Amino acid sequence: MTGMAAARAHTNIALIKYWGKRDDVLYLPTSTSLSFTLSSLYTDTCVRFVDGAAEDVLVLDGEVQDAASTAKVTRVVDLFRTRYGVGDSAAGAAFGADAPRVRVESHNHVPTAAGLASSSSGFAALAFALRALFEERYPDAPRMSDTELSTFARRGSGSATRSIFGGFVEWVYGTGSDDSVAVPVDDAQWDVAMVLVALSTQKKKISSTYGMKHTAETSAFYPLWREVSEKDLDEVRAGIRERDIDRVGAAMEANCMKFHATMFAANPPFTYLTSRSLEVIEYIQELRAQGLSVYYTMDAGPNVKVLCRRSEQPRVHELLAQRFPNVTLFDAGAGSGPRILSEQE
Ligand code: PMV
Repeated sequence: MTGMAAARAHTNIALIKYWGKRDDVLYLPTSTSLSFTLSSLYTDTCVRFVDGAAEDVLVLDGEVQDAASTAKVTRVVDLFRTRYGVGDSAAGAAFGADAPRVRVESHNHVPTAAGLASSSSGFAALAFALRALFEERYPDAPRMSDTELSTFARRGSGSATRSIFGGFVEWVYGTGSDDSVAVPVDDAQWDVAMVLVALSTQKKKISSTYGMKHTAETSAFYPLWREVSEKDLDEVRAGIRERDIDRVGAAMEANCMKFHATMFAANPPFTYLTSRSLEVIEYIQELRAQGLSVYYTMDAGPNVKVLCRRSEQPRVHELLAQRFPNVTLFDAGAGSGPRILSEQE
């Protein structure tokens, strides 16, 4: 018994966005989303039981986190304590003094909270490592599939649901908590990649949790969101089936702009985009007019993620670097699902 486990999970970028919860406690989405898991951006998380401790502890990039951040992790660990039969968090009951507490040490190879999706890899790595930890200590409990695991990652952060698999992944709407899960769609081992244009690595001012709630509650365009998003989703699915990057990219861009439009129509209105984001968009349009298959998408932050052919990625990177010499670019291919790390890693 080692009483510890470590896992690596990759971030994902949504081509079809998740933007709104129909259940704030269970983290059930208002629509199905679809993402691309990235090879080069990930989180490594090590978890260990600390017997006799009164609380869970969260250490992120070497710093012990405050009660609010730790509470989000405890919420997920509670699900595992319940699943493995060491308490009952569903009933809101406090766990007994003998319930195992966990120390979580996480290292992000992603700029935290800058719209580069560190919460997706963070909670996926946490869930993946916790499953290994609890399985080792409670081997008689029923085994947990990756599909079930995705519902646990979901309760930390919606987008983390999709990081439980590699390639193109859907997080399905579902009828309830048990079937609002991640489904791998395609391993993306074809001519597709991304270049991320990191305009800002500052923590965002409006969290995605607040942003989506405010939008869902006040935006004049929000009632249209689910319907238009489903149409874009069908188009992206068809493009993936045909391995047609132009079809995938066009539908991804369209969905991204509708997603940002919901925020322009919120009351009061807001946007995560900056004038720099728009400059990058214009440049992508220029490159496309020159014949490159390049498409943009932006999330809850100003950074632009460019979908391109893997075979054209070096060229796209070079052109972006020349045009925007002061910004950091990250290249990524299709990432895999999470894996357990050995003690040497
Ligand atoms: O799971 P959260 O709270 O990080 O929300 C993610 C929301 C978007 O990144 C804007 C869209 C998405 O589907 O990832």
